[in-house]
Amino acid sequence: MAHYVDLHSHFLPGLDDGADDFPTCLSMVRALSEMGFSDLCATPHQFAGRFQPPLDQVRLTFDQANREIAKLMPEVRLLLGAENYWDDILATRLRQGEPPCYDGGKAFLFEISPVVLPPRLEAALFDIRVSGRLPVLAHPERYSAVQRDPAVAEGLSRQAALLVDLAALSGTGDRAEVKTARRLVEEGLAHAAASDMHAPEDDRSVAAGLAWIDKRLGAEVVTRLLSDNPRRILMGELP
Ligand SMILES: [Fe+2]
Repeated sequence: MAHYVDLHSHFLPGLDDGADDFPTCLSMVRALSEMGFSDLCATPHQFAGRFQPPLDQVRLTFDQANREIAKLMPEVRLLLGAENYWDDILATRLRQGEPPCYDGGKAFLFEISPVVLPPRLEAALFDIRVSGRLPVLAHPERYSAVQRDPAVAEGLSRQAALLVDLAALSGTGDRAEVKTARRLVEEGLAHAAASDMHAPEDDRSVAAGLAWIDKRLGAEVVTRLLSDNPRRILMGELP
């Protein structure tokens, strides 16, 4: 029975570099459902200067997709979040106490520059945690500081939930990312894994990532990273 929770994907149409139209959105949702995901979080980019769809437009698109998908696939539950780039807009929203969180909860997804670690990141995340929010770091394996120094991931994992991409675990793509994603999961530093799906054809690498966790670490770890921990994260808890 499907029970995985996907905390990171781009299936909402026409908002960012994910799905272009509703049929594409539908085939992505269907593919994730067939892989065993029951709860799908839409996390369109919020990235100043690149993808900054107005939040009311994001909500409208989500409500529309949600209505259609409820009719076609009632077994799937959709939630709305955002992938917030660590920029001035996010900083302002955090100061105002309203970062775009997962479905109005306490947890929010964010990403940083792949090449430069923001100064005082750990301290800033600590302050965010003290304010009652849970930061969730997208694809930690992509950041060069995390690739170079295992201590960086250790420090970050105490202040933020680390959410690796399944495609990186599958072994396809950039070698440093694959190596780092696998190390984070093997060492127990990754709190959860997600699809980060942008197109229907990403389904193969997502499925291969799930298969890699199962083969390397067993079904219990699959359940922890794809179901138990994501559910705790949605409740604002650092697993
Ligand atoms: Fe993403």
